[in-house]
Amino acid sequence: ATITVEATGSKKISNMLTGVFFEDINYAADGGLYAELIQNRGFEYALSDKEGHDKSWNSSKSWSVEGNQNTFTIDSLSPIHENNKHYAVLKITEIGRGFSNEGFDGIALKAGDKYDFSLFCRNLAAAKTKLIIRLTGKNGEKYAETTINSNGVNWKKYNAVLVSNKTVTDAKLEILPQSQGSIALDMISLFPQKTFKGRKNGLRSDLAQTIADIQPKFMRFPGGCVAHGDGVDNIYHWKNTIGPLESRKPQRNLWGYHQSMGLGYFEYFQFCEDMGAAPLPVVAAGVPCQNSGTGGAGQQGGIPMSEMDDYVQDVLDLIEYANGDVNTKWGKKRAEAGHPKPFNLKYVGIGNEDLITDIFEERFTMIFNAVKAKYPEITVIGTVGPFYEGTDYTEGWALADKLNIPMVDEHYYESVGWFINNQDFYDKYDRSKAKVYLGEYAAFLPGRPNNIETALAEALYLTSIERNGDVVSMASIAPMLAKEGHTQWNPDIIYFNNSEVKPTVGYQVQKMYGNNAGDVYLPNNIMLSDGNEAVRKRIGVSVVRDSKSNDLILKLVNMLPVAVNTQLDLKNLGVTASNASRTLLTGVPDSKTALPKTDTIAISENFSTELPAYSFSLIRIKTK
Ligand code: AHR
Repeated sequence: ATITVEATGSKKISNMLTGVFFEDINYAADGGLYAELIQNRGFEYALSDKEGHDKSWNSSKSWSVEGNQNTFTIDSLSPIHENNKHYAVLKITEIGRGFSNEGFDGIALKAGDKYDFSLFCRNLAAAKTKLIIRLTGKNGEKYAETTINSNGVNWKKYNAVLVSNKTVTDAKLEILPQSQGSIALDMISLFPQKTFKGRKNGLRSDLAQTIADIQPKFMRFPGGCVAHGDGVDNIYHWKNTIGPLESRKPQRNLWGYHQSMGLGYFEYFQFCEDMGAAPLPVVAAGVPCQNSGTGGAGQQGGIPMSEMDDYVQDVLDLIEYANGDVNTKWGKKRAEAGHPKPFNLKYVGIGNEDLITDIFEERFTMIFNAVKAKYPEITVIGTVGPFYEGTDYTEGWALADKLNIPMVDEHYYESVGWFINNQDFYDKYDRSKAKVYLGEYAAFLPGRPNNIETALAEALYLTSIERNGDVVSMASIAPMLAKEGHTQWNPDIIYFNNSEVKPTVGYQVQKMYGNNAGDVYLPNNIMLSDGNEAVRKRIGVSVVRDSKSNDLILKLVNMLPVAVNTQLDLKNLGVTASNASRTLLTGVPDSKTALPKTDTIAISENFSTELPAYSFSLIRIKTK
């Protein structure tokens, strides 16, 4: 093939194309990115969290008491906070036998690392109780120990530090009261001190670093379906997720588990800042998933109109929480949480893949108009609905046109073949209309693996997204995180367990794009010496320039089962260098383990290079 990159006809494109989608699906938050090691620390797990109401999933989940005469019950008579109603009452008769938590499939510890332990305690019998706090193994091995002296009849928080003497993956936490009698316990927490950037109540450093390594330009939060819930009562309300942990309001996660809200809006904004990514919160458009309402099977609905003014105010308050100065009500709360400076919020998404009905339109319009009036500097991102068989975006785009929405969110999970055959999807888009945020996409195959074939289909399609970077402003593959053994959705781009992070080949593609963004697109022309349209579609080329470094970035995808020799013509593009860095991701189609390799190749303004079968080559050339 001869690939000629044109020196004329370049266009400005978005330099924010690669971002990340975060949703608490597949245990992405509790037991995942959120570094808390204790499961059900607030005793708020509920039968109703799980479809089918699994009996073992209740306020006692993950906790057990040892000793024949010791008992552990759940009470709610006098809680620390009304949002955190349940707590444990431990009645100790046998001293030396304790109360323990198994963590999320065990607690992973590293030798020499420090762990912040805390709990709230209220003595119900004795005025003082000494508590031994231990991290132990299955056979009683002691990995760490400390003591706490609880000395009051009112709720009080106690802190201690534990240092592990061993690296293990299956520790448990034990609390051993040293006197007989009853004691109330709540918000029992264990955090590694080594969180991402050392933040308190922070994120698991290995997982957070893996996300940050993509160099995402933005991060979407909190979903996905989690943003709008599966009923009015399940809508995600940001105010429930900030402030002291014991006052946050946990809720059922529609993916079949529990959200403690420990990773809430403050932690999210902080993570964005720590990664240099723009926050992109998505709030419900006053309707839950599929406008599912509250009224039983098939009945559509949304937040009652009589409550919509309050809901609209909540959305405005979120912007004030992020950006308002410390003298504003919500800006003050941000400052109290430790961040007086604004978080510089620029985008707000309203709605997630909703059915575009009158119920939706009425509520969306209220929120949209209110944000536009009060915060004209914020780019509101609307939603054009789901894109599944039998649906398209017609109604969503009609509303976007009518309201003049600046950007809309499109989603599609499609087959590898669809991605190969629809590279012209955005070529046809009217440039005078709203910009696009491709908020969720992924290529799938039967069995839903994340392998070289799906990853290359995405890499190929992304060459067309760069070509259309004047209309597509942002794109985030979805979902991002998945815990082994707790995965509701495949494929994802980062799998993990308690001690390992397993980025996929699809992740590598995102990282290659995220680390090599440009802001100017240079058109190219591909001439094949032989081959038809079907062959042509399996080769993708995108060339961008990064104005800051002046680097030329060539992305070349070959989804053919044979290598393709290319002659790259880069005349008049200022190429004087005689070598360039090349990153190559290649493997057999079902490979799940291929890793990109970087080397230096000889180049000139007209050079030949081979694109191996099933490969993604990224060539970065320094120019003057
Ligand atoms: O990414 C998984 C789910 O797919 C999201 O929650 C939803 O928006 C979409 O249907």
